[in-house]
Amino acid sequence: MTVIRLELKQKYFVKFNDNKKMKKIAILTSGGDAPGMNSAIRAVVRYGLNSGMQVVGIERGYQGLVEGNFIEMTPRSVSNVLQKGGTILKTARCPDFKKAEVQIKAIETLKKEGIEGLIVIGGDGSFSGARALSNRGFPAIGIPGTIDNDLAYTDYTLGFDTACNTVLETINKLRDTMESHDRVAVVEVMGRNCGDIAVYTGVCGGAEVVVIPEVPFNMSAICSKLIKNKERGKLSGIVIIAEGVGKAESFAEIIKAKTKMNVRATVLGHMQRGGAPSSRDRYLGTNFGIHAVRLLEKGIGNRIVGIKNNKFIDVDIDAGLEMKKRFNKELYKMVGLLS
Ligand code: ADP
Ligand code: F6P
Repeated sequence: MTVIRLELKQKYFVKFNDNKKMKKIAILTSGGDAPGMNSAIRAVVRYGLNSGMQVVGIERGYQGLVEGNFIEMTPRSVSNVLQKGGTILKTARCPDFKKAEVQIKAIETLKKEGIEGLIVIGGDGSFSGARALSNRGFPAIGIPGTIDNDLAYTDYTLGFDTACNTVLETINKLRDTMESHDRVAVVEVMGRNCGDIAVYTGVCGGAEVVVIPEVPFNMSAICSKLIKNKERGKLSGIVIIAEGVGKAESFAEIIKAKTKMNVRATVLGHMQRGGAPSSRDRYLGTNFGIHAVRLLEKGIGNRIVGIKNNKFIDVDIDAGLEMKKRFNKELYKMVGLLS
């Protein structure tokens, strides 16, 4: 198989075959699961089969790849999965996949099965695995699947929208009880080192305060805001903290001590990762899946698909992973302005 780096319209493409159409491709999900992954799997399977390829599902991410946990996918394998959260292929973390010998063994296993291209759904860690395979001559394409929305090259990742909707449902419920008791809720949301879930749900849920890793916080300023609100008759409130800044319980204790208000902490945890995917996530998953198969069909690998300004795109994995995520400062400012 020849590997050629092509420059087309100022974009680099790594072409892996000699324009021979791939006959067999595989798909796996890796890292944390995210609602919408199943819509991407369904699209890859059905679009791939309709294009005349065989499609193999690999269970439990790179771990399953190394162990050879392969399933031949048929149109029926992906029946009734669109509305399901999680991933029907299961997912895992496989630290060993960073080792060269493990990657080489994985490629041998893929080749033995006659598989010519791989689609990986996951976050930046999983993309590093896909890049490693591509760099070793095996074409791999990444689909962004993580609730964190922490990838710079794409405006949205799969699962982010559903996770935000789940957080918003909880905030609505917390508002009822906080208002009845004149209390402040400190709500801890996921996102690793990215504050997107906190900012989007803060704006859409009308939070009084949002604390995120991208902006240094000042506890006195947070407390003065809540005290000022109280003085003007707003006796309850919602403070959203992204997990990257600390624990809800410690924030609640400090706020309680400084404001003398009645404060309760809620950690939303893994419920943010589950549930039926929103229409937006199903739409993204479906389009990401089709886009990924089309790239492999053309013998193109080492790329990650995404959405930018409402257009489905693909970028080189190295370039995509190097991009620095731009934090939406304007949206963040709206939290303070509108609450
Ligand atoms: P995410 O894909 O959600 O960022 P992780 O960072 O946990 O999740 O990565 C998922 C998996 O991707 C890891 O368990 C490992 O198998 C693989 N991976 C992560 N980093 C690398 C790397 N540098 N090289 C090869 N594989 C990697
Ligand atoms: O990356 C998704 C995510 O849910 C993060 O928001 C969170 O920090 C992490 O995964 C939790 O990981 P685990 O599933 O290993 O508890």
